[in-house]
Amino acid sequence: MMSAGGRVVKAGTSLCGDNRPSARRSRLYRLAVARMPWREKPMAETRPVDVHPPYLYPDYKSTRLRAPAQPLVRVAPSPLETAGPVFPKRFVGESEADLTTWGTSAPLGEKMVLVGRLLDEDGRPVPRALIEVWQANASGKYPHPVDDHDAPLDPNFLGKGQVLTDDEGRYRVVTVKPGAYPWQNHPFGWRPAHIHFSLFGNAYAQRLITQMFFPGDPLLAIDPIFQSVPEAGRKLLIADLDLEQGIEGMALGYRWDMVVRGPRATPMGV
Ligand SMILES: [Fe+2]
Repeated sequence: MMSAGGRVVKAGTSLCGDNRPSARRSRLYRLAVARMPWREKPMAETRPVDVHPPYLYPDYKSTRLRAPAQPLVRVAPSPLETAGPVFPKRFVGESEADLTTWGTSAPLGEKMVLVGRLLDEDGRPVPRALIEVWQANASGKYPHPVDDHDAPLDPNFLGKGQVLTDDEGRYRVVTVKPGAYPWQNHPFGWRPAHIHFSLFGNAYAQRLITQMFFPGDPLLAIDPIFQSVPEAGRKLLIADLDLEQGIEGMALGYRWDMVVRGPRATPMGV
């Protein structure tokens, strides 16, 4: 198994599925490889940032089972991984960023608007990046067969959406504030309200899986997932209340920016 940019891949396997023998690759492909910046600066030389949670955090029980038992081996990404992905403008429908219009009427709960920017390690906007979100409903329930929380499903809320960032790296999602929910990690365990995020920067090595939390939530102090993030990274996972981004008389506004890599990176693997 290999790791690149925080992800682990099998040796010799390209995430793009481009495993053709080099003899069959085109001249243009070989030229592209020769010009790739990673040839000058291999992944192994990038500096780790102390905001990401460790693979093993014993208080977060699942990590005891899934943490790698062997040291990871770092590999440089293939040329296609470095250059991609590129999502066409119509890859995501505009309505997919509004999680409140999926049903036949409005979902229950506190309506909210979340805005933010996606930035790269140099602070530049990452345009046309795919951001996917998923979350529990206002009662803290996911419409998923393994969710056994004794709380009601909402027929008007599916809890998932996606959006592409604009030319300035901006995104906007309309949803309802998710509820806290109990989990089996430890006795009386409850997850704080959170929204799950998956996103791609402008390279596969910038894939980010993380969670966004809400300011002032007392459950943050006792949540092993949030606490697994080094202290310097925790505040990067909490959105700011930004009322003017909401909808007057209808929805609260929040703001949360994300950075895909580098010294100001948003903690990933949360
Ligand atoms: Fe969750």
